[in-house]
Amino acid sequence: MAGRLIVVSNRIPEGPNPAGGLVVALKDAITEKNGTWIGAYGEPGEATDSFDELEGTPYRRLAFRLTAEEHSNYYLGFANSVLWPLCHRRVDLVELQPEYERDYLSVNRRLAAMILRILKPDDMLWIHDYHFLPLAQELRRLGVSNRIGFFLHIPFPSHADLSVLPQPETFAGWLADYNLVGLQTGADVARCLEMYRADPRAEFLPDGSVKFGMNILSVRSFPIGIDVDSFIESASRSAPSPFGREEPAKYIIGVDRLDYSKGIPNRFRAFGRFLENGGAEKRPCLVQIAPPTRERVKAYQDITRELEEIAGSLNGQFATLDWTPIRYIHRQIEREQLATLYRRASAALVTSLADGMNLVAKEFVAAQDPEDPGVLILSKFAGAAEQLTEALLVNPYDTDDIASAIDRALEMPLDERRRRHAFCMQAVRRTDVSLWSTQFLRVLERCMPTLNLPS
Ligand code: UDP
Ligand code: G6P
Repeated sequence: MAGRLIVVSNRIPEGPNPAGGLVVALKDAITEKNGTWIGAYGEPGEATDSFDELEGTPYRRLAFRLTAEEHSNYYLGFANSVLWPLCHRRVDLVELQPEYERDYLSVNRRLAAMILRILKPDDMLWIHDYHFLPLAQELRRLGVSNRIGFFLHIPFPSHADLSVLPQPETFAGWLADYNLVGLQTGADVARCLEMYRADPRAEFLPDGSVKFGMNILSVRSFPIGIDVDSFIESASRSAPSPFGREEPAKYIIGVDRLDYSKGIPNRFRAFGRFLENGGAEKRPCLVQIAPPTRERVKAYQDITRELEEIAGSLNGQFATLDWTPIRYIHRQIEREQLATLYRRASAALVTSLADGMNLVAKEFVAAQDPEDPGVLILSKFAGAAEQLTEALLVNPYDTDDIASAIDRALEMPLDERRRRHAFCMQAVRRTDVSLWSTQFLRVLERCMPTLNLPS
């Protein structure tokens, strides 16, 4: 590849093993590609208008800082109180405030000007996620004609949900300045193309790409994955039990940021239903790891309270002196320990109401002992369900459906577990994270360059 690869994501990796699918996935990809990673510091402070170079990683990191006001309006506001609920089918949680969009646009504009100063003509840019939908538009305004790719890690919103935005047509305009828009699933691509089909400014070319003004845009799916081999290695290392002497005899694992899109209350209720229906005799434990996230947003405060109530009430109803059915851990667990937790579990529960991919599902599959694998119960609304079709697919809104899947998973004969696991494992390998980034970049390199005349 000629030129450098410049990756932009909102969150620059700070700790060695941060939570969040995007950071986990890209850390591996960018190290291999010897690229530069641009992102914001986690903590706001005095705004920067040039990048700080950070030490301590095998790849180059350039960081910028948001002011407290920008952090509130751009990150907590437009990104996480407008776009996140909009893309996760929770338009009831969308909070429209003019200052949210104003700062969202101004942060993107400032970042574009900072990137311009370090950009070389043959660099390729790869922008990640909903924090930066308008970044290509801002770069084009400055005369940048480099190839710019965008990957949306979260679901693409439906046409109906988009109409909740005060000016829904801006969404199509933002994306139209990229050369390549990568989405997680075929269903996401269908929704994106539906948006352009309804837009009189867009014209479809015979190869399926979209002509919009001077630009030609390709929209394709690139299902993201995990670093399969390193995950298998971590999981098969004979590590001591992360539970110490408190390991439950049989447990089901759930691992999610404490986000309303993950359907954790539905999962707890379904586990309660399973216990009620006779499951309590088997004395399984639900181990739920749910680190806090976006805690200043009210919807996240509400879901945290709701979950504590359900866990407390179910434990009150079912616990005995020597058995606690739900172990709810409201903190982040390191990746190495997670791998061991997955491997020792009888089943995993992923019950997202909407989810771009869900890497936890793929990690759980990779972590299993193929001779005696645990069973994955997976929401049909997680992107991963397009590939992991031999998981036990459930409707996360249907308590009985999840409850009977738990029962089925815990009773499943060994040969069926092996067969389902082998199928899922093949799918996990086909979407390995290094293949994901290689394929995205190969397609981006072949995109038609943008004809750009500075306005
Ligand atoms: N994760 C972690 N520690 C935790 C919880 C999650 O390392 O305590 C990691 C998890 O292993 C996975 C990622 O965070 O790699 C979550 O990605 P996913 O796609 O499942 O969900 P997202 O958080 O991106 O919505
Ligand atoms: C999801 C998003 C990422 C985000 C991550 C963690 O994976 O797709 O863009 O970084 O969640 O969320 P946070 O708001 O803590 O960065």
